[in-house]
Amino acid sequence: MPTDKPAEIATDGTVRIRRIDLTDVDTIFAGVCDSMAALSPIMPWASPDYSREDACWFVANAWLGWRDGRAYGFLVEDVTDGRFLGLCGLNEVSGHTANLGYWVTTAEAGRGVTTAATRLVARFGFEQAGLKRIRLFHIVGNVGSRRVAEKVGFVYEGLCRQHLAVHGTIHDTRLYSLTSAAEIKGKR
Ligand SMILES: CC(C)(COP(=O)(O)OP(=O)(O)OC[C@H]1O[C@@H](n2cnc3c(N)ncnc32)[C@H](O)[C@@H]1OP(=O)(O)O)[C@@H](O)C(=O)NCCC(=O)NCCS
Repeated sequence: MPTDKPAEIATDGTVRIRRIDLTDVDTIFAGVCDSMAALSPIMPWASPDYSREDACWFVANAWLGWRDGRAYGFLVEDVTDGRFLGLCGLNEVSGHTANLGYWVTTAEAGRGVTTAATRLVARFGFEQAGLKRIRLFHIVGNVGSRRVAEKVGFVYEGLCRQHLAVHGTIHDTRLYSLTSAAEIKGKR
């Protein structure tokens, strides 16, 4: 059941997700800049001219999203020292559905961060935000993202042709969904 005020923090003991705060601009800006080579082929918003102002807009929009219940963006942090690992969240919240997205800093890739954060965010979606369907998509060929989806238990629904434009190239994407917390695979 959705709660009146969704929880703004959760952890599995290794990573913590917490609501993006207005004071997180510089942390996010630095993380994006440091990870630009990995982000720019995948994310339409990521390009070498990404600015601190872009990070300000992102953070302000994240704050408004929480306020209006149309997006729930989280910072992903290491529980031991609180360092920034990446972002994961729900966007395009509409009624009982939402989209889940994520990225991890290049320095922290390949050690299970996104899989752990995605489990936490999906559980938040069902248990705190009252969702009944969470979708996820990735560009065909993004093997890391595909593995994250599969490991968390997302069910493949099909190919979305000519779905996503990234810096002038239009990509097919693979669409997945989860329809309940019970479908989430792995550590609680
Ligand atoms: C894709 C991405 C999110 C993966 O994050 P991550 O924290 O490194 O993922 P995890 O460590 O949780 O790994 C999950 C699985 O994916 C695999 N994996 C991760 N990156 C991979 C890569 N580049 N190639 C092949 N497999 C990869 C891991 O080996 C693991 O699978 P395994 O347990 O079977 O070995 C990260 O590389 C990233 O942020 N990329 C740029 C942005 C992006 O693609 N975002 C997703 C848009 S849909």
